[in-house]
Amino acid sequence: MTQTLSDLSIDGMIAELHTLAKISEAEPPVVTRVVFSQADLRARAYVKGLCAEAGLAITEDPVGNTFARWEGSEPDLAPIGTGSHIDAIPNAGLYDGCVGVLGGLEAIRVLRRLGFTPRRSIELVIFTSEEPTRFGIGCLGSRMMAGVLTAEHARTLGDPEGRGLEELRSAAGFSGALESVALQHGRFEKFIELHIEQGPILEREGLDVGLVTHIAAPASMRILIEGEGGHAGACLMPGRKDALAAAAELILALEAAAKSTGAIDTVGTVGICDVFPGAVNSIPSRVRLETDIRDINAARRDSVIDKLLAACADVSSRRGVAIRTEMVNADPPAACDEGILSALEDSAKAASKTYRTLVSRAYHDSLFLARIAPVAMLFIPCRDGVSHRPDEYASPEWIGSGVHVLARTLAQLAG
Ligand code: GLV
Ligand code: MN
Ligand code: MN
Repeated sequence: MTQTLSDLSIDGMIAELHTLAKISEAEPPVVTRVVFSQADLRARAYVKGLCAEAGLAITEDPVGNTFARWEGSEPDLAPIGTGSHIDAIPNAGLYDGCVGVLGGLEAIRVLRRLGFTPRRSIELVIFTSEEPTRFGIGCLGSRMMAGVLTAEHARTLGDPEGRGLEELRSAAGFSGALESVALQHGRFEKFIELHIEQGPILEREGLDVGLVTHIAAPASMRILIEGEGGHAGACLMPGRKDALAAAAELILALEAAAKSTGAIDTVGTVGICDVFPGAVNSIPSRVRLETDIRDINAARRDSVIDKLLAACADVSSRRGVAIRTEMVNADPPAACDEGILSALEDSAKAASKTYRTLVSRAYHDSLFLARIAPVAMLFIPCRDGVSHRPDEYASPEWIGSGVHVLARTLAQLAG
């Protein structure tokens, strides 16, 4: 197997990545693929077609998480899982998530071509809505699988247009009780996610792959500010209750709080600022801010949240605006499994690939799978560390190295 795996050609898979990228709500090469949009449904159909061609048995759960299974010789054993997501934020590139899905599929295909017969089944998972774009919360599918997001809570989720998860999943063709999305501990023996690094370390150090030891702890807080609107010309400055001016203070307060920890791992971002009524000659009366705060150290991250809450209280009393906050999520970090990491290391050595360990600052479905199974992540470099942008890029050589190491590791773990 050594020789043949080393000769791995991934030209076909790269072509599939590019075909998938063209299934987009934006003009290619920009990828925008929001969960349950027409583009998402067409992308799912394309990937499921590839899985079926590869001889995998496909099942879907009530929220659209998709499982493509290569049955092992001992089908009653818990499978080894791999996979990622194919939804993409607005104005994204083509590698985030898709490398883990098509790379996982390619790893399975190459093992099949080599005549390998796994003892444990190997299951490719395509998670629903890793990105928070539509429902405001990341990792919807894996969060529900892990039981972290309950069916009851999921039923209350909706998108900015006011369409609920129930309506949207049913329009997308997914039915059945949301309660059944949650999986038992042990449903997967182990899980490995291949992903682009979304950071600069591997490329800078000229390494082939990264073995992820920890996934940082993400949190998201919504801030709703209510001031007083009015005529931008007629209403004089004294006594104004401008909701956007209040929001501006809070955006800067979050930036300062994130910097104040002194730790390079603390980050804070306001990615959405929704202004009402949004007319140039009208004082903003309402603003919604969506914040994203992360750290590999949950206590330090929470100290930033506390500072932001203090700033909300201060701005509210000084400016006479009402400020309400809602914690969307505040997840703990996850540690990757040492056993899988050592299998990945063995595979990297056997494949003559250079590697190092690193931390994932982005979140991934593996953060939630870690609640129900041992997980690890395998990173490949991406150019200049750029991600969540149309110019995101990973070379075929980088992808090939990731698929090679993944295939070896799946083979080792599936026995
Ligand atoms: C995932 O897309 C993240 O924002 O980390
Ligand atoms: Mn992403
Ligand atoms: Mn991703």
